[in-house]
Amino acid sequence: MGLMFDEIFREELEKESVFTDASKLLPDYLPEKLPCREEEYRQLVRFFKPLLETRCPQRVLITGKIGVGKTALARRFGQEIERVARKSGMNLDYIHINCRGKRTSYSLLLTIVHRYFPRWPSRGVGEGELLSMLTSHLNNHDVFSIIALDEIDYFVQLSGSDVLYSLTRVSEESGTPGRISLIAISRNRDFLKGLDAPTQGTFLHNVLELNPYTADQLEEILKYRMKEAFKRGRVQEDVIPLIAEISSRSGDARFALELLFRAGMIADEEKSKVVLPEHVRAAKASVLPELRKDAMGDLTLHELLVLLALVRRLKTSNRAYVLTGELEKSYHLVCEELKERPRQHSRMLSYLYRLRDLGFVEVQPTTIHPKGQTQKISLEEVPARELEKEVEKVLESLRKEET
Ligand SMILES: Nc1ncnc2c1ncn2[C@@H]1O[C@H](COP(=O)(O)OP(=O)(O)OP(=O)(O)O)[C@@H](O)[C@H]1O
Ligand SMILES: [Mg+2]
Repeated sequence: MGLMFDEIFREELEKESVFTDASKLLPDYLPEKLPCREEEYRQLVRFFKPLLETRCPQRVLITGKIGVGKTALARRFGQEIERVARKSGMNLDYIHINCRGKRTSYSLLLTIVHRYFPRWPSRGVGEGELLSMLTSHLNNHDVFSIIALDEIDYFVQLSGSDVLYSLTRVSEESGTPGRISLIAISRNRDFLKGLDAPTQGTFLHNVLELNPYTADQLEEILKYRMKEAFKRGRVQEDVIPLIAEISSRSGDARFALELLFRAGMIADEEKSKVVLPEHVRAAKASVLPELRKDAMGDLTLHELLVLLALVRRLKTSNRAYVLTGELEKSYHLVCEELKERPRQHSRMLSYLYRLRDLGFVEVQPTTIHPKGQTQKISLEEVPARELEKEVEKVLESLRKEET
């Protein structure tokens, strides 16, 4: 037995790879440079100049579609502004918070408080007290902070905008000069709706809108990221333009990088010395574009069941869309199989609309049906088989959690 494992080790370690470091392509890695975003970076610096010069807190909104570099830009900027501020003797902290994992404004505030009081217990005091702990700490230690609320749209959708309201009000009420600047990061501006007009205004005053990347820009970005991750000469020259072309439809750099990563993996699996266009095509067939698999973690049980019903129906029918009635039948089958009680028609439709709003499905009215009310539901450009696997995985873990 021991020998066998030895062999596996040796074999795997000796295996030739096209990569020097594949992890450089993973979503969490923050690259040193962000080609094609210099102008936006400069704009961000301009927005925050008053903070550095006159300690006047700022509010900025960064918007743009999926994978356009909102998170990467903010995090890069955060690292740099901390450095610049400290050089000039200002205590400035950049705190980046992904709000998507947070269910309540309490847990969001707690994350901020933990930055300064790492051992603070997760219960005990109210929200107001958390806020005043935070402000007194900032005041007593002469600290300024920039809090980046990433994916704030997800949070507001679930928990409302109270926390934004508190964070924008906190310094005004404490009667001291504001020490908290905010960067709200969101795919769109809808989350602002719950705020009063003046507060909305302060965000809309400084908006940084990131446009989807063009094919040329994606090519430049991919070339830069390729150099970090691959051995020299291991990516055939047509590969990068091909990936850029495929992903320019959405302008999504994350999708482009995932394609490059997978193409490299497939090349390795096939023991190919170079990554070829063929590997890109194979990668494309196995990647879910546009929507992120982890976004599925936010779906409720029945939303997942509706999605699974849709995917299964699409697979068996071999058509591009299903009609509402067919979806409902399939949904009932799925519920039966998983021993869940199906919800009524109108509830099912509300799940469907949430799936549409989150970008999982497309819903179009149709006129061809005699009853007139029916709709065509489709998945745009998503390999149904991959999606099915993913939905099943999420469903399983969700159901495990519940029991
Ligand atoms: N200009 C760029 N240069 C190099 N890499 C980039 C650039 N823009 C984006 N990326 C990379 O692409 C991926 C997606 O970027 P990022 O996560 O910042 O997108 P996002 O706009 O925050 O997307 P989402 O709306 O899904 O949160 C990351 O891995 C990031 O490092
Ligand atoms: Mg992001």
